[in-house]
Amino acid sequence: MKAFIVKRYGKKEKLQLTELAEPRVKENEVLVQVYAAGVNQLDSKIRNGEFKLILPYKAPFTLGHDVAGVVTKVGSRVTKFKVGDEVYARPADYRIGAFAELIAINEKDVALKPKNLSMAEAASIPLVGLTVWQALVEKANLKKGQKVFIQAGSGGVGTFAIQLAKHLGATVATTTSAANIDLVKSLGADIVIDYKKDDFETILKDYDVALNSQDAKTLEKSLRIVKPGGKVISISGPPDPDFGQKINANWFLKIILKFLSAGIRKKAKRLGVNFSFLFMRAQGEQLSEITRLIESGVIKPVMDKVFPFEQTNEAMAYVETGRARGKVVVKII
Ligand SMILES: NC(=O)c1ccc[n+]([C@@H]2O[C@H](COP(=O)([O-])OP(=O)(O)OC[C@H]3O[C@@H](n4cnc5c(N)ncnc54)[C@H](OP(=O)(O)O)[C@@H]3O)[C@@H](O)[C@H]2O)c1
Repeated sequence: MKAFIVKRYGKKEKLQLTELAEPRVKENEVLVQVYAAGVNQLDSKIRNGEFKLILPYKAPFTLGHDVAGVVTKVGSRVTKFKVGDEVYARPADYRIGAFAELIAINEKDVALKPKNLSMAEAASIPLVGLTVWQALVEKANLKKGQKVFIQAGSGGVGTFAIQLAKHLGATVATTTSAANIDLVKSLGADIVIDYKKDDFETILKDYDVALNSQDAKTLEKSLRIVKPGGKVISISGPPDPDFGQKINANWFLKIILKFLSAGIRKKAKRLGVNFSFLFMRAQGEQLSEITRLIESGVIKPVMDKVFPFEQTNEAMAYVETGRARGKVVVKII
């Protein structure tokens, strides 16, 4: 099969198109013929080597965290899926490799693809959808009538987050630049701040939840717009000790994580705000919930560009500009 692999870590390194053997399917895995693969900032960060400490992939390895396709083989203990099922997934860490013609995925990480989406649209969902679910539902327990601040409402995470937060009954404030104001309003955002013109810190007050996806300065400001007892969930760092526990980090990494997040944890404590870092995880059951929301029309994919498979490097470069409006996908079939 054809696959785009990281041969060497580095910001200037390109993924290489290579011929690989078909993946071996373990007893609890399904083999998926990949029709489309979503492209995420995480792919570039891993290729650059920025995640080596917490996700030490050994090169060469196949990249790609979002897949939509058809099951072509099932392991002997697979119970939920059969050959021919149209599925989508964010394969688990260390089992990634969506930029390929085939991928083996643990069945617990897979869900049936929403019937009303194309393969390309479905491939745009899993990583950002699960991130938002784990932030707003699992961690924040966001409730009707609460106020949530979602940064970068026009991005992959933001476009999904606005829609889910509105569905949960929250008031949504978001940031974006002038060109994307109509987009985020169409998704349901109640308060839209042009971050190039206005400072959200002077506009927002007493929020229940903030979802931080930007730099350290923005994270600090987010602490100040949340009310005491409220929650700031950061998906762009810094990783905290809790995360170290979750990934079973060794003592050395645990010390680093403690050190990296010490400043922001201290500031949050002073303000009575609950700060936590989230690194999303693969989760087929939550993805099935997302399928239901998409099939009932509550959440719609927001697509920017679809690139052909051969242009996977170009697709990554486009995402790296930080200007994508919604999601970028690579089409394999
Ligand atoms: N920890 C996790 O599990 C996890 C999961 C998913 C994503 N992430 C991280 O979260 C971040 C966002 O991910 P994403 O997929 O949503 O990225 P993305 O799709 O690439 O975001 C692009 C969008 O961000 C907007 N933007 C850029 N700078 C902004 C700013 N200063 N203020 C407000 N909006 C801004 C852009 O709008 P304009 O063009 O209008 O500026 C653009 O629409 C990335 O760092 C990613 O790695 C983490």
